[in-house]
Amino acid sequence: MFPFDSNSPASNGADWREDEAAFPFDRVINRRGTLSVKWDDVHRVFGCEDVWPMWIADMDFPAPKEVQEALQIRIEHGVFGYTVIPDSLKEAVCQWLKRRHDFAIDPSWLVFAHGVVPAVAAAIEAFSKPGDRVIVFSPVYRPLFDLVRRHDRTLIFSPLRLTENNYAIDWDDLEGKLPGARLLILCHPHNPGGKSWTKEELERIGELCLKHGVFILSDEIHADLTFPPAKHTPFASLHPELAAQSATFRAPTKTFNLAGLQAAEVIIPDESRRRAFRRVQQRHGFFTLNTFAIIGAEAAYRHGGPWLDALLDYLRQNIDMTAAYLADKLPQLRPVRPQATYLVWIDCRGLGLSEAELKKRLLEKGKLAVEFGSQFGQEGVGFIRLNIACPRPTLEEGLRRLAMALH
Ligand SMILES: Cc1ncc(COP(=O)(O)O)c(C=O)c1O
Repeated sequence: MFPFDSNSPASNGADWREDEAAFPFDRVINRRGTLSVKWDDVHRVFGCEDVWPMWIADMDFPAPKEVQEALQIRIEHGVFGYTVIPDSLKEAVCQWLKRRHDFAIDPSWLVFAHGVVPAVAAAIEAFSKPGDRVIVFSPVYRPLFDLVRRHDRTLIFSPLRLTENNYAIDWDDLEGKLPGARLLILCHPHNPGGKSWTKEELERIGELCLKHGVFILSDEIHADLTFPPAKHTPFASLHPELAAQSATFRAPTKTFNLAGLQAAEVIIPDESRRRAFRRVQQRHGFFTLNTFAIIGAEAAYRHGGPWLDALLDYLRQNIDMTAAYLADKLPQLRPVRPQATYLVWIDCRGLGLSEAELKKRLLEKGKLAVEFGSQFGQEGVGFIRLNIACPRPTLEEGLRRLAMALH
């Protein structure tokens, strides 16, 4: 049994409505024709037109208005020459981490990048050699294991175990694979499934990695999207020794829906590791962020807190609504309640369909695009991932299509 409805704390649904102008999550905005991968690129990705897009992980909500205003002011200036990353951005990131995650970092630990994926790629290059063993928990966000293969490292999956609540680490499997490994890539919170790893789990991972001299890459891009009472513990906040043995990847882009601006920050406390990472970035010609990434990120981290709180509340209601709908109309599907992320991972194995059949039903009959489980590795087969970060009418339409496809 998946306790989808039970442990969910009562959500405070009235809040965001009180100031709908500031938090217009219910407003449906047409994204077609805006170069949106999610809405404009479905034909290339899924081979059919007119499918309702609930796949790639961005949201159908406008960014916080303070971010829009800051960008507008900068656009009106009209001159877009080379940029420098200001100390004020580093300060905004540090203050955000302290405020939201009780994580105090030294600004000098921060390095910026175009995205978490390019930053993880640079880290693999900086901290390992071809042939080195790299461990990744699976199923997992595909680029995290694709990057390992593309860098000619030896990819080692450590399959997670699906439990009643969410995923759990198979400690015996992990311990068996750590000796001789160079890197462990952690997805925290985990995508798919939205598992927020607990302090105890992280400490145990850290202890084992220290014992075997394995360096940890902790992808924490979904950290800000953790639903209370779950609490995100930054891996590097556990202990100075673990901070030195890790690099943490974060971004304002997932939190504030700014993926098109392309920005991420990497926290690398150990100076020689940080230098090695910067050398790889420089080898690839990366020196700075674009103007809009800098302006957008700083405005978001400085002013986006109330918007994020309202967003989390709205997302939680969307998750509840999805759970209730599935329980009513599609009881054979077993959703995993995310402790973080707006991505609902749904076990469809009860339908007894192959992934090809499931795909055909969803795309051709339901006209619905979701992420199909094999994208996340072999352990994901039989699952789909539904992106519920959209206005409620958009979600209702998606769920209606899902039911239509599977009835
Ligand atoms: C776990 C994880 N890491 C990284 C990314 C993408 O990061 P970026 O767009 O900054 O490259 C995603 C996007 O969905 C993700 O889920």
